[in-house]
Order: sequence, then C-alpha cells, then structure tokens
Amino acid sequence: MKFPIGIKILGVGAGIPSTIISNADLEKLVATSDEWIASRTGISERRIVAEETASSLASEAARDAMGFAGIKGEQIDLIIVATSTPDYLYPSTACMVQADIKANSAAAFDLEAACTGIIYALAVAQQFIASGTFKTVLVIGVDLHSRFLNWEDRNTCILFGDGAAAFILQASENENDILSTYLRSDGSGAHLLKIPNPGTYYPHPDKALCKDTEKFVQMNGRPVYEFAVKAVPEAVHTAIERANIKLEDVDYLVPHQANIRIMNSAAERLGMSKEKIVSNIDKVGNTSAASIPLALWHGIQSNQIKTPSICALVGFGAGLTWGASIIRWNAKDARSK
Ligand code: COA
Repeated sequence: MKFPIGIKILGVGAGIPSTIISNADLEKLVATSDEWIASRTGISERRIVAEETASSLASEAARDAMGFAGIKGEQIDLIIVATSTPDYLYPSTACMVQADIKANSAAAFDLEAACTGIIYALAVAQQFIASGTFKTVLVIGVDLHSRFLNWEDRNTCILFGDGAAAFILQASENENDILSTYLRSDGSGAHLLKIPNPGTYYPHPDKALCKDTEKFVQMNGRPVYEFAVKAVPEAVHTAIERANIKLEDVDYLVPHQANIRIMNSAAERLGMSKEKIVSNIDKVGNTSAASIPLALWHGIQSNQIKTPSICALVGFGAGLTWGASIIRWNAKDARSK
C-alpha cells in the first residue's frame, strides 16, 4: 500500500427494531400531545426494542452494511462500536458483534462519546486506516435509550428511540471518501445530560443514597438546545475548511437527529438551504450514536441522496461532545448488481 492511504466508504447499513411507539401512545403515559411533540421536536414516532439487545441490533446493521459493501466477516480487520448503552460493562459490544458476524481475525472495541460517538468512531477508524494498521474497518453506532428512559418524565421519554447503523470503510490507493474530521468536547457541560447509574460512581459507599431516578436519562433540555444550535454550524464550518471545500460544494447536511428545530436553525446559521437537510427524525426520534448513519441510510433508501455527493455529517451530545466529518458518498450497493 502506498502512502498517503485514502479511505473508501464501501457501504452503510441499518438495524431498526420493529416496535413503533407513536406520539399518541405517549399521550397515554405522560401529559403531552402529538401536537406538542411534533411541533417542538419534529418527532412523530420512534422504534423501541423488545427482545433485541445493543449487540443484536448492531450485528443486524453490520450484516446490512456488509451486504451493501459485498464483503464477508473474515475480511474485517477492526470493529469499532460507538455506544453509550452497551449490553454489559464488559465484554464490549464490539466483541459480541465480532462473534455474531464471524469476523474472526478482527480486533474489536467500544467507544463512548454519546450522540457524537459515530463521528469520533469514524475519526479513529480514519487514523488506523491512514497509518496502514488496518485495511477494512466496520464502524457501528448503536443505542438503546428506551432501557434508560423514565416513562413518567415527559421532558425526556418523548425524545429518544432505539437503533443501529454501520459503515464499512476500506483503505484505497486512489480514492478518498473521508475528506475531513473535526472533534471537540467540553466536560464543563457534563452535568447537562447524563445516565448516572449504572456506572461505578454509585456503588461507592459514600454515595449509597442513589435515587431511583438516577437510573434514567437526566437532561436539562434548554441549555443543551442552546449549545447545539451553536456547535453544529461551528463544527460544519471547521470541517468544510479542513476539507478545503466551499459550503456550496456540500450537497447534503446529515445532522444528529435530536430536534428538527436544531437542524433548521443550523442550516439557517450556515446559510444553507433546508432542502439539503437529510432527516428521518419523524420516524425514529433521537437514536443517539446510530442517528447520523441511520439518517444517511434513510436518505439513500429514499433516493434523496444522489451518488456521488458530498455530505456534511455533524453530531453533538452528552459530554458535552460535538464534531463533524465531510464525506463523499459514492458507494454502489453490491446486492443490486
Ligand atoms: N409535552 C408537553 N409539554 C411539555 C413537554 C411535553 N413532552 N415537555 C415540556 N413541556 C412543557 C414544559 O413543562 C414547559 O411548560 P411551562 O411553560 O408551563 O413551564 C413548556 O412545555 C416549554 O418547555 P421548554 O423546556 O421550554 O420547551 P422547549 O421549547 O425548550 O423544548 C426540548 C424542550 C427538550 C424539546 C428542547 O429544549 C430540546 O430539544 N433540547 C435539546 C434536547 C436534546 O437534543 N437532547 C439530546 C441531545 S443529544
């Protein structure tokens, strides 16, 4: 392999649970309305798991992406799973996926950067490929927030859904589909969005008085919103600059699907037409680490995203974390040959 090594995006895939929870279903659980949820967030329904686990949903996404890319498990050298809701504290969800898809010669690990996890995972994969360490990398984002939602808290239970989505990346001598990445975090905002327990904080004897609510997602929505509307355009601007392209060169904005108002505000601040936004939030809600590739996958399935095109992927979330990646989407589905 000659240096510098480029990266080809060979495929994308999804794993979506079949159980649908509509806004009308939530009206039966908390004091809310379809009108409030749809107008404040853009969400109409979300999917939640029944028997599925983070690893089973991740494996489904992996198999779909492998089918798209036309590659087999034994060709994969590295599996990175971005998740905040793993099956276990250990072993990693990535190792469970490895066994499921028979990627017998791969290394595997999990990465946690909440809803920005997939952008972090792409950046890590990019480094491993560019250094010549690994050739073919499976990157998955998966989250099962339904397991950590307080179904009596209308501030949070309306926002999240479960899902998984995956990319297959491969070293290439003459093509490069990851034009830039940009990663940031600000730990001073850690308290704004968290799932405190399970973790190793509460079993400590000094903190024996763990409240039941600490098992659930805790969020201060307004400051997270204010952070997001600034972080998204800043990240996209920086990633565009690093990719050495212009805003007009970007065909699609594929943002983290947390709130349609955040996406619209970001497009407006960027001076980008709202037509360029790729969104599936109405159908799946906020699927955290899966959100960006799942939106990309839906955009490809619905023929909104044309091939080839330039996409600005941008994420934000707990940590606080944020980041963006400019990619070229130019993959052909091996199954449609
Ligand atoms: N149904 C009906 N009313 C609700 C409600 C619900 N599900 N949730 C909150 N409300 C009420 C509030 O109690 C408040 O009532 P009040 O005016 O009588 O006090 C009113 O609606 C407005 O609440 P507010 O929190 O100011 O709404 P908002 O416009 O900020 O929207 C969020 C709330 C959560 C949708 C919004 O802040 C948001 O999207 N934040 C970012 C969250 C996020 O993206 N998190 C994940 C990041 S990865």
